[in-house]
Amino acid sequence: MIGRLNHVAIVVPDLAAASAMYRNALGAEVSAPQDLPEHGVTVIFVILPNSKIELLHPLGDNSPIAAYLERHRDGGMHHICYEVDDILAARDQLISQGARVLGDGVPKNGAHGKPVLFLHPKDFAGTLIELEQV
Ligand code: CO
Repeated sequence: MIGRLNHVAIVVPDLAAASAMYRNALGAEVSAPQDLPEHGVTVIFVILPNSKIELLHPLGDNSPIAAYLERHRDGGMHHICYEVDDILAARDQLISQGARVLGDGVPKNGAHGKPVLFLHPKDFAGTLIELEQV
């Protein structure tokens, strides 16, 4: 069912430092920071040959990643995103297998303007999983 790895999201306490580390130490192609106020994050895209890394930092008062950064002061891996062809079919198959979909189960428009859902980390080896319909 799942297809390509779309991105790995890493919450960072200092975007400029994380950007410099990926650019200089790891030699990666790194975008400028982009504010996504409707998602409560500022993001920097690290472009890899076969996928992306998203460096996320809280933006605004109700950021969904603020609590994560409180618990992980040095930052950390927040979620991984897999591509699916049909997000509703994927959701229904997951529910039939006993997996928990976060929220009301209705796909929302994600940071790339495409429908996404999140799956409970306790059902997936402690990893928050995002599904994105591509
Ligand atoms: Co994501």
